[in-house]
Amino acid sequence: MKVIQLQRQNINYKDYIKRPANNTDYKTLIKEDCMLVDQDNQILGIYITIPPLKTKLLREVVKRVHYQTNRRTQGLTTTSRIFGYMPRETIRKDYCSSTALARQNPKYHTIITNFAETLSEYYKDTCPEIFSKHQAAVKEKIKDEWTIVGTPFTSGIINKDNQLNYHYDRGNIKKVYSNMVAFKSGCEGGYLCMPEYGIALEIKDNSCTFFDGQEILHGVTPFEIIEQGGYRYTLVYYSLQQMWKCEDVNMEIARFRNRKTDREKTRLKRMRGELEVDELKDIPKEKSRNYNIFKELNIPIKFIGTPFTRLPKEYQKRLNDYKR
Ligand SMILES: [Fe+2]
Repeated sequence: MKVIQLQRQNINYKDYIKRPANNTDYKTLIKEDCMLVDQDNQILGIYITIPPLKTKLLREVVKRVHYQTNRRTQGLTTTSRIFGYMPRETIRKDYCSSTALARQNPKYHTIITNFAETLSEYYKDTCPEIFSKHQAAVKEKIKDEWTIVGTPFTSGIINKDNQLNYHYDRGNIKKVYSNMVAFKSGCEGGYLCMPEYGIALEIKDNSCTFFDGQEILHGVTPFEIIEQGGYRYTLVYYSLQQMWKCEDVNMEIARFRNRKTDREKTRLKRMRGELEVDELKDIPKEKSRNYNIFKELNIPIKFIGTPFTRLPKEYQKRLNDYKR
């Protein structure tokens, strides 16, 4: 494989971060398979094209998946779908789980995750040291059941026709590579630009790119779909650091059930006006203030939130006296 040595240039990150990548941001467009190395011959990334037969089924699935469109804070609209596993997320989803695609379309999901194994074979062959490090880090910290079988990856995303502003990837295990495979047809442009190194990778159809997106600033240059039915898809497979917190599947299911039961219990209690003092933090401030008043006036707290005119006459009188 061709080795291309690159020099890291000092750039002002503020000039790049969160703005669109331009074709003027690189000097060299790399089109052939290669290994990118730095001035000390340390691998920076791998860019290879794999035989179309390997991705035939995957391509068909990727074209058929139902995508979701998000408006990001930076203002760019992106169309994508996540797959694999998801970590706990604060209050809203306090348990680890598979992604919605796994539940909604298990067949597609299996084809997408099965390909991870093929991809990680290429990863292992082209950068064995990083691969071993990656595998060891995942084995040490993440339970087997939260990794995609036969790979060090936990999760991934499919991007559909997304032009991405300059960014660093976030939330992955440090110092290992994300693996990206691209499907491109009737599309011009859409290169992966790395301005610090003055290069862009062509990201041609059926190409695979392995690099550390948390270390290297990158963005996607503008592209145009020039043929009817044209597309540009990229699938990125990675290992989320937060998956370290996931216990075994049964424990996570128990968390999910407990969480749900607690929510149901609280809802029922609230309907009956039976909330305990320490549960009042869930009640809007206005009602918490009423709680003290109701307690003081010896009005049962189940009447908190009841319209004044519907309160028993005796309680209406007490409240009126209090206001005076
Ligand atoms: Fe990225």
